[in-house]
Amino acid sequence: MVRRDTPQAYDGIARSIHWLTVLLVAMLFGLGLYMTRLDYSEWKVQVYSWHEWTGLTVFVLTGFRLAWRLTHPPPPLPPSAWIEQLAAHATHAILYALMLVLPMLGFLGSNAFGFPVKWFGLVELPDPIGKDETLGEALLLAHAWLGWLMGAALLLHAGAALFHHFVRRDPILGRMLPGVKPPGSE
Ligand code: HEM
Ligand code: HEM
Repeated sequence: MVRRDTPQAYDGIARSIHWLTVLLVAMLFGLGLYMTRLDYSEWKVQVYSWHEWTGLTVFVLTGFRLAWRLTHPPPPLPPSAWIEQLAAHATHAILYALMLVLPMLGFLGSNAFGFPVKWFGLVELPDPIGKDETLGEALLLAHAWLGWLMGAALLLHAGAALFHHFVRRDPILGRMLPGVKPPGSE
């Protein structure tokens, strides 16, 4: 029998936010790589804005996601070697941290370069540091490097999920896929 207080899968909200974030982060990498290779033009400024608005959306969504997680605990990992458990928890923690730190660095870096951010062209966000191009350069360099760290963590994370699904054939991926019922929940 399945205990009521031990969830066997992520709930609908957690799954929806996970896959919405996947979409937004894929857009962020696409826009980030594209925009930094453009010559200066109005179009470049526009694409930067889309990247910045999308990144701030991930920041807010992640704040909500963590609050949801606190009040709706995720399913425990099935029994496995302690090193695997550690790797899974560490990768998740790194991804959560980067989903908060990357937008902060991008936001502060843009402001330091004298480009204040107006979220979706509607909400004027305060500039907490003022213009300082040397600081801006350092912040955006850290943003770019941590962006690559996130890319590496994501390869590991998605690779592990696919390994569980296709090699181990356990229900780990199903716990996060929309529409898949956890075993024992019928
Ligand atoms: C999870 C959120 C974010 C991710 C994954 C992300 C990812 C990236 C990536 C991959 C690049 C290209 C790096 C390069 O090759 O130079 C980039 C550049 C950039 N991002 Fe983000 N970003 C995020 C959020 C933000 C936010 C919220 C802002 C600003 C409000 C921002 C501002 C910038 C800027 C200004 C650059 C250009 C840096 C340069 O010109 O060297 N990013 N970002
Ligand atoms: C932008 C891309 C992604 C990000 C930022 C991300 C982030 C995360 C985070 C933070 C968790 C931990 C959830 C929690 O316990 O609170 C998680 C879980 C999970 N993710 Fe992702 N993920 C991404 C892409 C993917 C992809 C492409 C797959 C599948 C191929 C995937 C499969 C899973 C699965 C199966 C879990 C649940 C693992 C478990 O049951 O413990 N994720 N993801």
